[in-house]
Amino acid sequence: MSTRKPPTTPPAASSCAAALKQFAPRPPQPQRLSLAPFLHRPDLTLDVLRLDLIDPQLSGNKWYKLRPHLLQALAQGHTRIVSLGGAHSNHLHALAAAGQRFGFTTIGLVRGPLEYQGQLTPTLADASAWGMQLHALSRAEYARRYQADWLAATARSHNAYIIGEGGADACVLSAMQEFAPLLSRYDLVAVACGSGATLAALASAAAAPTEVLGVSVLKDEGSTAARVQALLQATPHCPYRIESRFHNGGFARLNRTLLKFMDRFAACCKIPLEPVYSGKLFHALLDGAGQALLAERPSGQRVLAIHTGGLQGARAMQRKISNLRATAQ
Ligand SMILES: Cc1ncc(COP(=O)(O)O)c(C=O)c1O
Repeated sequence: MSTRKPPTTPPAASSCAAALKQFAPRPPQPQRLSLAPFLHRPDLTLDVLRLDLIDPQLSGNKWYKLRPHLLQALAQGHTRIVSLGGAHSNHLHALAAAGQRFGFTTIGLVRGPLEYQGQLTPTLADASAWGMQLHALSRAEYARRYQADWLAATARSHNAYIIGEGGADACVLSAMQEFAPLLSRYDLVAVACGSGATLAALASAAAAPTEVLGVSVLKDEGSTAARVQALLQATPHCPYRIESRFHNGGFARLNRTLLKFMDRFAACCKIPLEPVYSGKLFHALLDGAGQALLAERPSGQRVLAIHTGGLQGARAMQRKISNLRATAQ
């Protein structure tokens, strides 16, 4: 394991709690999108909830998933938080920002090396600048991330509260409660789905007849569905479904079809997307290589798509994007 910063003395829980209490971002009202450039379904409405706009660093679903963990950490007497993710992880990026803003000490365990060609990724460079201690985990060690004994031992060894990958533990179910009145105005609420924690939080905030649809961004062999089911088993929730056809080759895979769609969407809707989460969500809803999910919806439905942010992660994909554009000419 390689290390970049020495541990620091934990700050007082009371000052973290006071700083946390003051941060209450107000999400914008949902924005209506015209379906006309994509689908001939004038009977449907599609709104976008732009959680990417709530804050420059604590944006999208990241803030909503972090908040219950930060509160739970403080309730357990911790101001040191350890978590894990890849070198472009939106979650580690947001956790580092939250640490700096609210006074938590943060530790990021990163899959693979910390540096590529002698440099941190843009995500890790920000995290490090915001005070996160970074440690590289080997792929073999990272593969143990779902084992309860490994998580407990890792928390102990860092004397910290641990947030597992995706933040998918029971406390996250409260994450989207404040949106319950908004969700009840829609027949379908669609969100990009990685660990499934955000989907589970939305499903527990909403009630039937609203349905939540998760567009999986990874090649999922049922593990996301199992995780969501486990999270929701003891909690009332609305009907939900995970759609696994639109991962586009796997996690963070980008090809010309997706890029072309994203460019068209940006031109028509003036809303920035990134290829890993929001790009795949809107592609699945509106284009889906001829299988647009909205095309299947019953007449008259109202649909809300949640923009979960993550735009910072796309910085490292710019070269790939330029290459794809160049070869498409
Ligand atoms: C920008 C963005 N959108 C969506 C997701 C998927 O969220 P979840 O892992 O809770 O399914 C993530 C991952 O956390 C993300 O970073």
